Amino acid sequence: MDPRLLDVARRAMAQAHAPYSNFHVGAAILADDGNIYAGCNVENAAFPEGWCAETTAIGAMVTGGAKHIVEITVMGEGKEFTTPCGGCRQRIAEFAGPETPVHICGPEGVRCTFKLEELLPASFGKGHLS
Ligand code: THU
Repeated sequence: MDPRLLDVARRAMAQAHAPYSNFHVGAAILADDGNIYAGCNVENAAFPEGWCAETTAIGAMVTGGAKHIVEITVMGEGKEFTTPCGGCRQRIAEFAGPETPVHICGPEGVRCTFKLEELLPASFGKGHLS
């Protein structure tokens, strides 16, 4: 695992705008350009309009010009594993492969690592459109 990912995710988590859930999440992506892209969750008073940390990080990666996730770290508070929601699994899959590591972290460090295909089996992807 890239040693930068934990610190970047931790700093991103500290920036979360989560006044409604009070659940702060940070994400950090190592992209194939060698750069790390960060994101936090951004909530909204109109609750469904908020979005996840992973989505922010993917947006930053694409804006930065990269299109492939080498590995991704998701850091949440509390004792439970902060695994990506269904929508974010699909968004990660757009820019990753079945073997791509998804590191699930707490503030103290990595709690477990999944392959993307474990989180999103039998997924729909670009191959279905050709
Ligand atoms: N959240 C994330 O940002 N990423 C996840 O992987 C799970 C959930 C956010 C969405 C919402 O702002 C808060 O956590 C509570 O669901």
